[in-house]
Parts: sequence; structure tokens; C-alpha cells
Amino acid sequence: MTDSMDRRHFLGAAATGLTATLSPRIVHAGSHRANDTIVVAVMGTGGRGMDHTREFSALPGVEVAYVCDVDANRVGKAADVLKSAGKGAPKAVGDFRRILDDKSVDAIVVATCNHWHAPAAILACEAGKHVYVEKPCSHNPREGELLVSAARKNSRVVQMGNQRRSWPKLIEGIEAVRAGVIGRAYLGQSFYIATRPTIGHGRELPVPEGLDFELWQGPAPRRPYRENILHYNWHWFWHWGNGELGNNGIHMIDLCRWGLGVDFPTRVTSSGGRYHFQDDQETPDTHCVAFDFEGRKTITWEGLSCNEFRPGGPGSEVVFYGDGGSLSISGGGYTIRDLKGTTIKTVAGAGGDSEHQSNFLAAIRDGTKANSEIGEGHKSTLLCHLGNIAHRTGRTLRCDPKDGHILDDVAASAYWSREYAKGWEPKG
Ligand SMILES: NC(=O)c1ccc[n+]([C@@H]2O[C@H](COP(=O)([O-])OP(=O)(O)OC[C@H]3O[C@@H](n4cnc5c(N)ncnc54)[C@H](O)[C@@H]3O)[C@@H](O)[C@H]2O)c1
Repeated sequence: MTDSMDRRHFLGAAATGLTATLSPRIVHAGSHRANDTIVVAVMGTGGRGMDHTREFSALPGVEVAYVCDVDANRVGKAADVLKSAGKGAPKAVGDFRRILDDKSVDAIVVATCNHWHAPAAILACEAGKHVYVEKPCSHNPREGELLVSAARKNSRVVQMGNQRRSWPKLIEGIEAVRAGVIGRAYLGQSFYIATRPTIGHGRELPVPEGLDFELWQGPAPRRPYRENILHYNWHWFWHWGNGELGNNGIHMIDLCRWGLGVDFPTRVTSSGGRYHFQDDQETPDTHCVAFDFEGRKTITWEGLSCNEFRPGGPGSEVVFYGDGGSLSISGGGYTIRDLKGTTIKTVAGAGGDSEHQSNFLAAIRDGTKANSEIGEGHKSTLLCHLGNIAHRTGRTLRCDPKDGHILDDVAASAYWSREYAKGWEPKG
């Protein structure tokens, strides 16, 4: 094929039938009249919860009525931010069950640590709330399945916070991949880079004043307070977090899964470890995972938490390879190249959280399709869990392509769920 034929092939495929292969709409009955105010509560007011507090309150037709955190210092600041922005005076509470009891609340944003995501979201569905749950939607595979069934059983809109699903130019780029702009797409390669510092060796200390550590632990079996767990560093302990794979990897793996049109893998492998620092961190700082799917398709992710030289080229986060070329995603835009690596087309784009939040609100108001409906959010989260299970067991996992369940491996299957603190076991 000549260059000009390549070009016609790319542009033709991009222009035709872009939506033909999209998955079917999951429509939730809209529970609101179009002009009703949607009353929102934000659970967890760390960096992410503060983003949601500010941004939801800036959207039309939204009232943020509650901010909630088990750390009294944090929740007080969140309430002050809204007050000083002239957005009313939200109630600042420490126990989210007060929100679940308040019938006037329509939706809850779960922006806590990962071990709380699914248990809180399930309770919220059962209390009749719609849920925007941060990624990853669960701390282990079983919880994810229970959350999907709680959403279905209670007919609630549950959207996972992988906001790239709502970025306009990424939707366009992914639709182009699915429509064949690079021919048959067979590989989605993805990357994450950072230079995170060491977390050191934490001492056991008395619980700081103002922190309800008992409720922070909630569903997780009890451990003593240590100085290098919270805030934020819980990500690096399996007891509460899911490592970089479940932290940032999920964003890119989700794009790969979406672009390749795959659900559950047949085989999962993992390499890497805590290579850069020797400290308390349990999860890898250098992690390479691969997922094979039926139909001759593969997703890979390389997480480099301690080195910012980026595989895949400057800015690149995801590269799709097809038998006619490649499409790489960087930030909110994409570039299409032919098989020789010659650029055919570059599309700039950007995105934040408001597109995804607005999509969530539209799903509540009028049954618009949620762009990261929990059924899809669970599938991408599950890939991260499987990658971590392969890592923790040192085994290649064989999985059932119908539901991602691990086949013929008792030791690996033991990670499918966890032990829970009494009284906090999630139920589907
Ligand atoms: N979508 C994105 O781009 C994005 C970006 C950053 C973080 N996140 C996700 O958001 C979540 C929070 O991240 P963070 O960086 O703010 O973490 P963080 O640890 O700084 O904040 C979590 C907050 O939740 C609070 N919390 C814990 N248990 C609670 C409970 N039972 N009730 C109320 N509050 C509780 C903690 O006290 C803390 O203030 C994480 O799951 C992370 O993966 C998503």
C-alpha cells in the first residue's frame, strides 16, 4: 500500500460508521424532572473530594448539601470552601450514614480510600442514592460484582470516576479505533510515569486528634495507626489500596479495553516489584502487566512510579496498534500514524471532570447513558485486580472470558475477596 492509499484508508475509516461497534446503551429510568435540583453529598474530602466539592457545586442545578470526612480538619475546610464561594453552607459530617438517612439527598460521591469504595457505594444504592464512585470502584473483585448487582437491584445510576470516558476528543479517537481507522486493532499499550518519593518506615503512633480512625478503617480488619499510611499513602498497602495499577493504571487500561472492545481476559501476567526504594511500601513501583483476550488482542500497562522517562514517546499514555497503523492518546487528544510511523492526523483535545460529572447528572435526570456505567467500570477495575493478583502470587492467571473469574488456581482465587471487619461485610 502506498502512503496516499494509507491516508485514504485512515481518513475513510475515520469518517464512516464510527458508532457501529459501540456497546448497547444501558438506560436507567430518569428519576428527576429536567429542571429539578440534584442534591449531592461528597464523602471523603481529600484532594479528590475537594475537586468534586468545588466542581459539582459549580454545575447548574446542583446543591452540595453535605461534605463528609472522618478527619474533622479536612471536612471543616471543605465546608469553608463552599461557604466562601457563596455556595451555601453544607452540613459537615463525620459519619456518612447520616447522609444515607437523609431522604433529600439524591446522589453521593464516594472519594474515600479504595477499601471504602464498594462497601459505601453498595450501602448508598440500598439507601436509594445514585453514586459517583471514584476509581477503582472496588478493593477486590467480589466487591465489584456486588456493587454491580446492588446498582441493578436498586435501579441506581452508578458511574465510576474514570473521567476520560467523557472527554470529547477521546470519545472521537476511541470510536475511530473501533471503526477501523487503524485496521484491526490488536494491541493497546499503556503507561504511567511519576517520581514518587519514599514513604519511609512508619512508626506506630497515637491516632491524631480529630481523626476517627475506627471509621476510616471501616470494612478493613483493624490495624494500629501508623504515621505513613494516611493520608494518601494507603495506596501502597494491599490492606487498603491497589498500588499504582489501581490508582493511575486504571485510567489507561480502561481506554485500552474500550478501544479494543474487550471485556474479560483469558490470561494475565505480571512482572516488577518495589525496586527503587526499600521501605514500607508493599505495592510495586515498577510494574509491567499483560492481559490477553479472545480474538487475538492484548493490553499491556507499564507503571513507573519512580522514573519519568516515558515509554511510548513524549506525552503518550496509550498506543493502539492495528494491522493498518497506530493511534496514540496523549492528554485529551490523539494522533493517527501509518504502519511506518508517519503521522496521518493529529487532533488536540482536553478534558477535566465536569464533562463526566455532567454526564452522571444527565443520567439521573433523563436516563442518558452513563459514560462509565458501573458494569463497564467493574470490568476495567477487575483487570487491575487480576494484574495485582498475578503479581502477589507470582503466577500466570488463566481466566474465564465470560466473567474474568480465575480458573484452576486455589491460591490466586483466595484474593478474589477479603476478610471484613465484623458488621461491614458488603452484601449484593
Ligand atoms: N479520577 C481521578 O482522576 C482521581 C484523582 C485522584 C484521586 N482519585 C481517587 O479518589 C480517592 C481519594 O483520593 P485522595 O487523593 O483524595 O485520597 P486521600 O487519602 O487524600 O483522601 C481520602 C479522604 O477520605 C477520607 N475518608 C476515609 N474513610 C472515610 C469515611 N468512612 N467517611 C468519610 N471520609 C472518609 C479520609 O479521611 C481522607 O480525607 C481515591 O480512591 C483515588 O483513587 C481519583
